[in-house]
Amino acid sequence: MATVVLVGTQWGDEGKGKVTDYLAAKADIVVRYQGGNNAGHTVVVGEEVFRLHLIPSGILYPDKICVIGNGVVIDPAVLINELDALAAREVPTARLVISERAHVILPYHRYLDELEEDKKGAGKIGTTRRGIGPAYVDKVGRVGVRMIDLLDTETLRRKIRQNLEDKNHLFSRVFGAEPLDADAITRDYERYAGRLAPLVADVSILLHEAIDQGKNILFEGAQGTLLDVDHGTYPYVTSSNPTAAAAALGAGIGPTKIDRVVGVCKAYTTRVGEGPFPTELRGEMADRIRERGGEYGTTTGRPRRCGWLDAVIVRYAARINGLDFLAVTKLDVLTGLDTLRICRGYRYGGQLLTEFPASLSVLAGAEPVYDELPGWDEDISGVRLYEDLPPRAQDYLERITELTGVPVALVGVGTRRSQMLVRHDVFGQGK
Ligand code: IMP
Repeated sequence: MATVVLVGTQWGDEGKGKVTDYLAAKADIVVRYQGGNNAGHTVVVGEEVFRLHLIPSGILYPDKICVIGNGVVIDPAVLINELDALAAREVPTARLVISERAHVILPYHRYLDELEEDKKGAGKIGTTRRGIGPAYVDKVGRVGVRMIDLLDTETLRRKIRQNLEDKNHLFSRVFGAEPLDADAITRDYERYAGRLAPLVADVSILLHEAIDQGKNILFEGAQGTLLDVDHGTYPYVTSSNPTAAAAALGAGIGPTKIDRVVGVCKAYTTRVGEGPFPTELRGEMADRIRERGGEYGTTTGRPRRCGWLDAVIVRYAARINGLDFLAVTKLDVLTGLDTLRICRGYRYGGQLLTEFPASLSVLAGAEPVYDELPGWDEDISGVRLYEDLPPRAQDYLERITELTGVPVALVGVGTRRSQMLVRHDVFGQGK
């Protein structure tokens, strides 16, 4: 029985949805602790493909409780759409519990995200334009609307009216854009409140009781370590903390209650949005990886930038998150390549850097230093035991462990639930 945090070790899109779906089978509760509907998980169950943005993928198991923690920012219209889409496919959703302390995304957040990105032009962050950043700005600026406010009509009206007074000034004076109508927004949000009210609760109490009862709890991080507002490639980051420590904060438990941290690492690297990416590939090899790996954003459909695995990044993620294990995903995508490369350091200004730099200009000028390994040709998508992987695929995984210091517990060889090789039971060992 254990509490396990699952985090992305790269720039998001590591395949956390599939690993969460796999681990959720063993969990009693699955918790989202940060981010919002900027995230996107694709989970394949049998012949069905589910795309989830807010609701933890544990919802696809009929007996799991799913929790949206206080650290998440919730767009209620998106959440309701997701609930309806699941209900239409006969997935029961009454087991979803939403923190009363989670913040709400409002239309003015989305609007501002669009206006700010457009204004920045070539200097844009490349956000998902879902209003995530502006919602977190309001949270820290102490003018946010929480789920508990959404349920209290008077407070909701007052906060929307007050916030829009300021925001409408900004829209018209700074951006030359149309103001928004507080009454129309309030009416919509009152409707959402009616729909979501039965799901809203004090999540911290629920999780404490579950921990005391020795339940298995999986905390699923959205995005990845390099998109963390503190530890990522600032300012090309999201506005929350996808790293492991935030699981405690974003769910209302103490850090001593976390038993284990698993980092999800794609067998290569991808990035959406702007910002430096040392191992980025261009041309034929990038296209090949993108097509074979289906590297298009779940949320925005944008083609992802693709590159070789960067072990400097994964080793950094190991340190920042305190990783116990790695789950390496999409190993099958690399099948058929003659030579594989893993970045072990960067050459910059005549020096070899082995630690991930804080400076974006250093990162932009960093030249990757690669280890080269021979590839494998065998189709590995049907392999179910680690020992049955071709020796060169095993060597590739072992090199990842050598370079990062983290053992590999899980290996993904395809999109299906069954296409996961297990070397360690991450829930198995207790504290
Ligand atoms: P925002 O989170 O929409 O503000 O976007 C900020 C940055 O994070 C942009 O580079 C986005 O592309 C990136 N981002 C946000 N969510 C995800 C995700 O789930 N996967 C990958 N990148 C993401």
